[in-house]
Formats: sequence, C-alpha cells, structure tokens
Amino acid sequence: MNKEIVVSGIRSTGHLHLGNYFGAIQNYLSMQEDYNCYFFVADYHALTTHPGPKELKSNVFRVLAENIASGLDPEKVTLYAQSDVPEIPELYLILNMLAYMGELEKVPTFKEKVRLQPENVNAGLLTYPVLMTADILIHKAVKVPVGKDQEQHLEMARNFAHRFNTRYGCDFFPEPQVFRASNDTVKILSLDGVGKMSKSENINSTIYLSDEDDVIRKKIMKAKTDQGPTEHNSEMPDYIQNLFVLMNQVSSAATVDTFKNAFNTCNIRYGDMKKQLAEDMVQFVQPIRDKARALQQDETYLRQVLKRGAEQSRESAAKTIEGARSLIGIKYY
Ligand code: TRP
Repeated sequence: MNKEIVVSGIRSTGHLHLGNYFGAIQNYLSMQEDYNCYFFVADYHALTTHPGPKELKSNVFRVLAENIASGLDPEKVTLYAQSDVPEIPELYLILNMLAYMGELEKVPTFKEKVRLQPENVNAGLLTYPVLMTADILIHKAVKVPVGKDQEQHLEMARNFAHRFNTRYGCDFFPEPQVFRASNDTVKILSLDGVGKMSKSENINSTIYLSDEDDVIRKKIMKAKTDQGPTEHNSEMPDYIQNLFVLMNQVSSAATVDTFKNAFNTCNIRYGDMKKQLAEDMVQFVQPIRDKARALQQDETYLRQVLKRGAEQSRESAAKTIEGARSLIGIKYY
C-alpha cells in the first residue's frame, strides 16, 4: 500500500449540481483507483451556519447518497463523516495554538463571510482554515483535490504544517498540495450566463442532480442564448460555449460536431440545440438521481458505510495524533 494519500472534504450544505459533478466529483472518481483516498462529509464545518439537528442529519445522508450515486465507491475510498473522527478536533485544537489571529482575519473567505453574515461572525468561521488543515494533516495527506476558491486555505495548511514541524523540530507533517487529476477540469457556468454554476444563487440556472426530468428540460430551454453568429467561425460567447461544454459531457461526439458545424456556418438554431441537450442531460442525470433517491431511503446501508469509513479513518487518525502528542510532550505515563 504505497499509494499517495489524498484527502478531500465534501460540503454538506446545498444540493449537488452539475458544477459539482463535472468539477469536483469526476475528479474524485478518477482518483479512487490510483490513490489512497479519504473523502469525508464536512459536517463540523457546516455548523458555522447553525443548521438544526434534523437538517444537519438529512444533509449528511443526502450528500453521501448523491456522491455514492455519482460513482464514489465506498469499497475503494474511505468515506466518512468528519464528526465521527474525534482526532480531527483534537488536532484542530493543537493547531489553533500555532495559528495567529492576524493571519486568520486576513483570509478572503472569512472577510467575505463577515460581509455576508455580519450577525453571525463566530470563532468557528475565523478558524475554519485551521479545521480544514486538521482534516488534511490528520491523514498526512500530500494531495488535496479542491477548487480555486480553496487554494488560499491550502496555502495556510502548508504554513501550519511547516510551523508545527519547525516548532517541534521534526518533519512530521508533509506540506499538502492542490491536486487535480486532469488539467482540463471542466468549469460549468450558470445557465443565465452569470458566474460559475457552483457560485450561482439562481436555482433556476443551476441543474441539480436531484432535478426531475421536466425541471431539467425547462432549465435548459431557458438557458441564455442570442441571435446566433453572423460571421463564419465566430468566437463563441461564454454562455454558448457553456452549452457546448455541457453537451460535450453528455451527448455523443457526432451530436456535438453537428451543432459546432452549425455554429461555424451560422446555421445554428439554439432552440434545437437546447432540445437535444435537454434530452441527453435527462438521460445522464436520471440514473444518478434515481440511485441517489434509493440510497437515501436505505439508511441502514448509509449507516454501514459511515461506520466502516469512521473505523478506517480513525485507524489512520489515531496514529497521527499519537505521533503529534508525543512530539509536543503530551506523554505523561
Ligand atoms: N472547505 C472545503 C469547501 O468549502 C471543504 C473542505 C473542508 C475540505 N475540509 C477540507 C476540502 C479538507 C479539502 C480538504 O469546499
């Protein structure tokens, strides 16, 4: 077992959508064969927004079901809930002593939260990057698949790892790097052409893996287009490009070619293109949605997955914590 260690946290707020699927999940799927993957539902992180107990639980089970339905295989990766591994908050406490207020207050994601929710600027938000560091270092991961928005957090994780090593005169924690399985990670834009789908707050321009067939059709038919190009081989506006990106993912190469040619020769009818895309998208989402739904009903199975994941994760986590405690000097008998 000399596979490199990969850790990633799955946000448990919000429903999974195509931006997540083609951005993050596909990246996960390609890693599960070749790396020693620890993927977890970041439920402690979710507490920063104070969900109720029922909501928290249903979010965790839903996101787990959606990820497994998308192809994440609990037989191949260690899949667990963050809150099932008490070694994580223990390492978080230890790392908090090495994290400075000044650097935490400067983090852009923190400043953004202060701006968006001034009524709930809790200490957990401030120390979010420290908890994220603990998530990663607890398994001594070297590779972390995250999006652009998390790169700053990862840089902090490297700093904290380095700081620990320096403080205790050791080479205990590796410095984790951002990892993308393929260079061409697909970015999906919101269907209204405003921003990334993952950032979009417009639910009508975001296709969720839980959307019914008709909802998918409706959303795609409403996607932003224009009058079409007037010159051969024009540059595509990004919202048209986005439809082609989606089509590339779910339609046959021949279909994509047909519409590309139509675009290049100014014969494209976006209504037809969207109709085709909608049908192919329905075919694509349907099995994932149905499987996710069935899994969500099967709590016995999901509990089993969580339990086994927790055991495997704790085995690795316990070793790390023992090493860290010993280096710090917490070893009294
Ligand atoms: N912060 C990440 C996000 O918002 C989720 C996350 C939590 C994570 N802990 C992590 C990602 C550890 C990678 C590694 O998407």
